[in-house]
Order: sequence, then structure tokens, then C-alpha cells
Amino acid sequence: SNAPVAKLKLAIQKSGRLHDDSMRLLKECGIDISNGVNKLKSEASNFPLEVFFLRDDDIPQYVEDAVADIGFVGENVVYEKKKKVDVTEKLGFGKCRLSIAVPKGEDYGSAASLQGKRIATSYPVLVQDFLDQQGVKAEIHEISGSVEIAPGIGLASAICDLVSSGSTLFMNGLQEVETILQSQAVLIRNSNLKPEQQAILDKLLFRIQSVKKARN
Ligand code: PRP
Ligand code: ZN
Ligand code: MG
Repeated sequence: SNAPVAKLKLAIQKSGRLHDDSMRLLKECGIDISNGVNKLKSEASNFPLEVFFLRDDDIPQYVEDAVADIGFVGENVVYEKKKKVDVTEKLGFGKCRLSIAVPKGEDYGSAASLQGKRIATSYPVLVQDFLDQQGVKAEIHEISGSVEIAPGIGLASAICDLVSSGSTLFMNGLQEVETILQSQAVLIRNSNLKPEQQAILDKLLFRIQSVKKARN
């Protein structure tokens, strides 16, 4: 027939911490994608998959809106954005934690010492959840990047940001005092996939699970 061939649209980070491992996972799944840095999208030559290269923070919204059917993105972004998407599979890379940090040498007994302080972060929702749990009132100052410089320039007395190796904190004279979330890359899925898209996703998930097993 002349029916269009079903394709699954996958959103991945266009550059940054998750990009290379996302591309590597596809490659290890036997899916050939021409390298898409600085390009909006690319098509797999041997699998019914179209890949969109986007800012990680935007991926949950695109998947909720079905602009993309699925996405590879950090749990940190999924939970911060509180979008209606299904978290389908942990991908085993991009492991990091969302932590509070204060200037090195500063006393920090417990979260109570944040009372009345200003905290700079790109994760205002998750930080507010944490403060509420702890019964602490503090001011959250949202900034989109370079959060680690905030204490040094007098913008805030603490930060909450992703920590992976810890080198960003170290280079900026900060110490990690509290972990509020453990995170890794996950596959998210639009909650209303059509059966033919779900069938492609099932094939992809089967390959992803095989790759994960082979790595262990
Ligand atoms: C995170 C975080 C720090 C860095 C920490 O940024 O904001 O900049 O990683 O990693 P480290 O502990 O290994 O030094 P990310 O790569 O997620 O980029 P983004 O903030 O631009 O999304
Ligand atoms: Zn980001
Ligand atoms: Mg960063």
C-alpha cells in the first residue's frame, strides 16, 4: 500500500552532558544516525526513527505535546518540569545528583541553617519541595546557568545544582552539604502513543535492554 511508514520521533540533548552518551546508546543499539550536532534533526538509515536535537530542559514539554514521541533526558529535568510523560526506562548513563552547596569552610549543621537565606538554582520546583519537606523558609533565586558563581559574586549564600564529578563545585570554592535528588538519564514517552509507534518503541526498548545487560 501507499500508507506512510510509521516512524518514532526521539528527542535528545543537542549538546551537553547527555549528548554523547545518548548518541552512543543509539549506536550500540545498531541504529545509524549521521552526527547531528548543530542540526535540528536527523533520520536513522536502518531503523524507523527520527532524532530531534533539542535543549534538555525543553524535552519533557515536547514529549508531553507529542512533538516528539519519546525523549532521552535527565530525571532531574523530568521531575523539575512536572510534565505528564511516562518514565519508561532508566538508561544507565548521565548519573549525577542535585545537591545544595555552600562556600567551603562554612558551617552547615542541617537544612535549618538555610532559613532566611537566598539559594540560587535552575531547579526552583525541586528546591522548594525540599525546603517544604524540611520546614525551612528560604528565598529561591532562579538562574538558568552558571549557578556555581552565585555565592562568589554575592548573589546568594547557597546554591542547588547538579553535581557529577564535583569539579565545578571544587573550582568555585563550594562544598556539597545536602543531596536532594539522585538522577540519571531516562527514556520518557508520550502517554498517548499510537499502537504502531508503541510497536517501534518496544523494538527500541528491547535493544536498549540488551545493551544495558551487555554493559553489566
Ligand atoms: C551540570 C551543573 C554543573 C556541572 C557539574 O551542568 O550545572 O555545571 O554539570 O558537573 P561536575 O560536578 O562534573 O563538575 P550540565 O552539564 O547539566 O549542563 P546544563 O546546566 O547546561 O544543563
Ligand atoms: Zn540543561
Ligand atoms: Mg551547568
